[in-house]
Amino acid sequence: MRIISIANQKGGCGKTTTAINLSACLAHLQRKVLLIDMDPQSHSSLGLDVDVRGLEKTIFDVIGYLDRPDASLNDIVLEVSKNFHIAPSNISLSIFEQHLAGIHGRESRLKVAIESAPRNYDYIIIDCPPSLGLLTFNSLLASTEVIVPIEMSLFSLHGISRLVKIIDVVQEKTGHKVLMNVIATMHDKRTRISNEVLQNIKNNFNESMFRTVIHLNVKLKEAASFGKSIVEYEKKARGFIDYMSLSKEVTAQEKMLGLKLLKDTKPLDTVKKVKQQFIFHAPEATSVKIVGNFNNWIPADASKMERKKDGTWTKNFFLAPGSYQYKFVIDGKWVEDNNNSKVVENAFGGRNSVIEIP
Ligand SMILES: Nc1ncnc2c1ncn2[C@@H]1O[C@H](COP(=O)(O)OP(=O)(O)OP(=O)(O)O)[C@@H](O)[C@H]1O
Ligand SMILES: [Mg+2]
Repeated sequence: MRIISIANQKGGCGKTTTAINLSACLAHLQRKVLLIDMDPQSHSSLGLDVDVRGLEKTIFDVIGYLDRPDASLNDIVLEVSKNFHIAPSNISLSIFEQHLAGIHGRESRLKVAIESAPRNYDYIIIDCPPSLGLLTFNSLLASTEVIVPIEMSLFSLHGISRLVKIIDVVQEKTGHKVLMNVIATMHDKRTRISNEVLQNIKNNFNESMFRTVIHLNVKLKEAASFGKSIVEYEKKARGFIDYMSLSKEVTAQEKMLGLKLLKDTKPLDTVKKVKQQFIFHAPEATSVKIVGNFNNWIPADASKMERKKDGTWTKNFFLAPGSYQYKFVIDGKWVEDNNNSKVVENAFGGRNSVIEIP
């Protein structure tokens, strides 16, 4: 199993975009992938449509407590799509450092969590926060490799030497080599500065740099805003071509690293929740919500559906296998799903729509 941190303390250099789309492309190449969101900002989780407010457990429950039995990684993973799972975070992760201050073993919480979970993946990708604090240190210590995204702008190399020093410390502590590679991101070949920075990075990193260059591509930003990876959103986009190219470089290293793929083993059966999209067409409506026994039938803010341009409303829920009843609330009026013939009588003399998650 390869465990790859996506790290750089500089904010906004493309860590999360790389974490999401590298994971999705590796899954597209039939690798079994887990993305761990180690950032309290939860951008990886949000960028894959996870409603972080509604989560019972997150990565903090797995690594944040030493005084009670931990949740296991398997308890929190959600299935984004085939071969692609996420261990989400939420804002609770922001107290991790304070919470474990002075406690022995605080630096290896993630490493221990990964080691004690079943080996279900070919790749674990870790999205780090923009700092060199305890969360990033935990990620690096758990990793076999690091990918450092560097965006093509002025000062983007500033501070990289500190990151490299920390990776050296990790190597000393663990006694194993952590393979580091740089990936150039947000390249705009029309601008002089972008070309100059790219050349500068090539001169600096030479062999420790992916040949792929990630270009500036608005589709990557759009995809994230719709809660999708570029694989799901737009396979014609430059962003898809670039991240597939990066993924192929990554998979080309498998032989050299002696990685044995899990490809032929039986599919993962530990996943608790699978992404389910609900759709309702109501172009005239001003508000559409979905209520069901998965959200206690409460038409609160978290049950609001999102309106697409064509008047279709959608909302995703991560649901465990089982049978669920639901209704839509259109401008305050409760109605059945007119596209689903499966219904049951309810206690109020009406009918609820029913969905089975296998
Ligand atoms: N290749 C790209 N083309 C266009 N926009 C991009 C590209 N890569 C990233 N972005 C956008 O730039 C912004 C910052 O990217 P991203 O969130 O991936 O950076 P980050 O390093 O994870 O940030 P943070 O340090 O806050 O975690 C986002 O709005 C993202 O959609
Ligand atoms: Mg990020």
